[in-house]
Amino acid sequence: MSKTVGWTRLDDIPLQGRRILTRVDYNVPIVDGIVQDLTRIERSKPTLDAIITKGGIPIVISHLGRPKSSQDKSYSLKALVQPISDIMGATVWFSDTLLGPEAHATIHRANPGDIVLLENLRFDSREQKNDTAFAAALGELGDVYCNDAFSASHRSHASIVAITRYLPACVGRLMETELNALTQALSRPQRPLFSIVGGSKISTKINLIDHLLDTSDTLFVGGAMANTFRAAQGKSVGLSLVEPEMLDVARTLIAKATHSVCQLVLPIDWTIAAQLDSGSAFEFITDESECPADRMIVDIGPKTSQQIEGWLQKSRTLIWNGPVGAFEIHPFHRGTDALSKAIAALTEQNSLLSFAGGGDTISALNAAQLLDKLTYVSTAGGAFLEWMEGRSLPGIVALMPSKSMRGSK
Ligand code: 3PG
Repeated sequence: MSKTVGWTRLDDIPLQGRRILTRVDYNVPIVDGIVQDLTRIERSKPTLDAIITKGGIPIVISHLGRPKSSQDKSYSLKALVQPISDIMGATVWFSDTLLGPEAHATIHRANPGDIVLLENLRFDSREQKNDTAFAAALGELGDVYCNDAFSASHRSHASIVAITRYLPACVGRLMETELNALTQALSRPQRPLFSIVGGSKISTKINLIDHLLDTSDTLFVGGAMANTFRAAQGKSVGLSLVEPEMLDVARTLIAKATHSVCQLVLPIDWTIAAQLDSGSAFEFITDESECPADRMIVDIGPKTSQQIEGWLQKSRTLIWNGPVGAFEIHPFHRGTDALSKAIAALTEQNSLLSFAGGGDTISALNAAQLLDKLTYVSTAGGAFLEWMEGRSLPGIVALMPSKSMRGSK
């Protein structure tokens, strides 16, 4: 992968004997105090390892969820102490407070090789206001700031943006990997570039589709949002999930595609069923056939899967966000499953560079046990979408020496 250009890296700053205020994204699912998915903690390991190896002490800060008050202990980061300790093989010191004497005392108790974890940033309402006094107080906790939270860098929050005014700043290993991968996917892709956008709502992905029409060679739209495109073309959709208020938007995007070098591709056949229930009977209709009034579209059909595989074979780079059917309900996972397998196989043969992101896409890849078979899968949700829409992320801009432009272009 290409080298990160424009950002100060961990290796560029002396870390020996210094406290490295490390912003990670440990916004992980927790049920009854048990962390359900360790991926984000595991992915922070290279950064924490590097800091420790170079003689620094990581002072880890993160948000967790969207707590209404600091009294809501279900959002405490304390539940992460043991998982971090297990994954890192290190002593983890936890401070119940983010700032103040307890936080400072905890930090001073830590020895080289240890990790300090501070309480949820969002327990202080100034975090989300990008408050400078709060950022300055955070700055007093460390000597160097390291942002390893790409997935939170679309937020203009104090620990992401304002903090960079108070400490020398650098990017962590995960951030660097993420920036390199996403730059390679969108800004400097090997062509042809094939993009696949699925999911249920056009309303949440208009900007993404619009931008990918400008940047891709071929764009396939699937999932329930393709129903809205079908309806916009005056075709029947029966009981299918459709966004009636998005019909004009769909028509505009179709019209844009006719003047674009990018080819917009919609399903050529569809899977329909009477209800969205596991084990339901289903049948296929072609794009030209009627969808009966008592049936709904639940997935793409086998001809579309074949067609997508053909596009994948002809492409060098793939960007994928969103399932192409109701993948969580079997047997309507078949389209998304076939897609995951085709992408994984072509990536393995080195004929495709594959980049995916978004919660549902990760769930689908996980279900197919193919998460580690793609070139890069981003754990970022909103940040991945905003990057793919071509937007500048405030946290990334704040790390740029010039602070004026998106560094990938
Ligand atoms: C994420 O999980 O996508 C990030 O941590 C951002 O979380 P937020 O949407 O609550 O800011």
